[in-house]
Parts: sequence; C-alpha cells; structure tokens
Amino acid sequence: MDKKANSIIYINGEIHSPENAKISVFDRGFLFGDSVYEVTRTYDRKVFLWDEHYDRLKKSSTKIGMHLPFSKVFLKNEIEKTMERLQNKEVFIRVIVTRGEGGFSLDPSTLTENNLIIMIKEMTRYPECWYRDGVHVIIANTHRTNKDSLDPAIKSGNYLNNVMAYMEAATQNVYDSVMLNSEGYVTEATTSNIWVVKGNEVITPPLKAGILEGITRKTVIKLAKENEIKIVQRNFLPAELINGDECFLTSSTKEIVPITKIDGHPVGDGGPGPTTKKIHELYRSFISQQ
Ligand SMILES: Cc1ncc(COP(=O)(O)O)c(C=O)c1O
Repeated sequence: MDKKANSIIYINGEIHSPENAKISVFDRGFLFGDSVYEVTRTYDRKVFLWDEHYDRLKKSSTKIGMHLPFSKVFLKNEIEKTMERLQNKEVFIRVIVTRGEGGFSLDPSTLTENNLIIMIKEMTRYPECWYRDGVHVIIANTHRTNKDSLDPAIKSGNYLNNVMAYMEAATQNVYDSVMLNSEGYVTEATTSNIWVVKGNEVITPPLKAGILEGITRKTVIKLAKENEIKIVQRNFLPAELINGDECFLTSSTKEIVPITKIDGHPVGDGGPGPTTKKIHELYRSFISQQ
C-alpha cells in the first residue's frame, strides 16, 4: 500500500503533495524529537474534539518549555483549509509543532521560528474483525518512559520506546504491546489507553502511573459516570489484566478496540464482552452528538 496515497501536507502556511513536503535536517523535531503533536480525525468532515486536542497540545508545549505561538482558532482554520484539498473524504489529522531549526547542538538559543506541519490523510477503514473478534496483545519488555525522565503525559515527537514496544508486538504478529512502568504496573498500549473490566468495575491506570491522558479516556470516564458504570483509576499488574473479564483499548482514531488475548491467554470467554460493547455504543452515540 502506498502510505502517501491521498494525503496532503501543510508546512508553515504552504500546502504540498506528500512527495514535495520537505523539512530541514536542522529541524529539532528531526534531530532530537524536540516537538509536540496531536492526532485526531473527522466525523462527517468535522474535526473531532479540536478544543480538547488543542488544550493537550498547549499542555505538552508548556511541559517541554516551548512557547506555542499558534492559537486554537488559527490552527483549526489551517487544518480546515488543508482538508479542503481532500474533498468529501473523512481524514486523519496530525498537527506537529517543532521547536524550530538550530545548529548541531542541543542548545536551543540559536533557533529560528517553530515549524508547523499539518498532515491530512484519507481515512482507511479499520478491519471489521478488530471490533467483532477483538485483538491480541503482548506485555512488552520495553517499558514506558519514567515520569521523571520524559513524562508520558507529554505528547512529544519522541516515541522511540513506543516504537520499540510496537516492534516487539509486530515480531510476534499481534496487534500491539502493553507497556509497564518501572514499578511493573500496567500503563497503556503504544498509542492507546487500556482498560480492564472485573465484575462491575471498569479499571484503568491512573495518570500517576505515567500515561498519556487520552481524550477518549476522558470521554469514556464521563460517559461511564453518566450511565452508572463504575470506573476505578488505580495501579494494577499485568496478571490482573490477563485475569480480567474483559479488556479494551481506547484512542481518538480507533475508538474502542476489544482485547481478547494477552500473551497468548484468552481474556474472559475469549470474545469482546458486554461492557466493552456497551461503552462503544455510548461512545458512538456521543460522536453522533458532536
Ligand atoms: C501513548 C498514547 N496513549 C494513549 C493514546 C490515546 O489518546 P487519545 O484518546 O487522545 O487519542 C495515544 C494516542 O495517540 C497515545 O499515543
């Protein structure tokens, strides 16, 4: 598959075809992963939960000590302008802001302006079987970064440990990896938050475990509260995940994905469970109200 198919790239105010979208080798995002980003998508051609994504972009920038010179409204306009090039298509949206271009050293004092990149790609449908049968994951040997080194709450361009954890899953031919923190507690998957259902509780790692505060996670917590589903945010070990009645993943692009096997062990009765399905229904209905 041509990964560049049906995509369009905005760089600092100019729109390019993917082949012509180029950025300097001195860009600090390229050199050091010194950048922040957000990923969302459209439903009915509307940018989904932009306010929430912008707020997180801003938080990430603040946490890496980078001034974000772009407003919520400005970025939304630029996204919409770029999207127009892929008419009548639902799209993935990636907004990247790098600290800019400098020299060879880590020192940011010689920087030029931030680079702003917006990548728009036509949405491809995810395989139906992910939702119908669930996906298989492993517990990765690669850990999530420690909160005191690179806080996973920052959505930065530095995803190398997630890439390595993903590669572990790919070698075993499964969908994704679950990453632990240095204390051995479950944090999240490489690009999704994780949940386990046990009895009448839906449990997810707390922010202090060292995770990205997912926008879908926040939405699921809100919807669960409104619908009398009990959510518990606490640390747990991988054994609890494997022995859960149901497990699932959440993310802005993929919504709710049931996990039906972990490290080769079936979760619950081996199929997507009723609570996972109920939460997905609530989430779909939330989407339709946006
Ligand atoms: C590490 C990580 N965790 C969780 C998520 C899910 O976050 P959201 O629901 O905001 O898409 C992502 C999404 O990109 C992620 O990269």
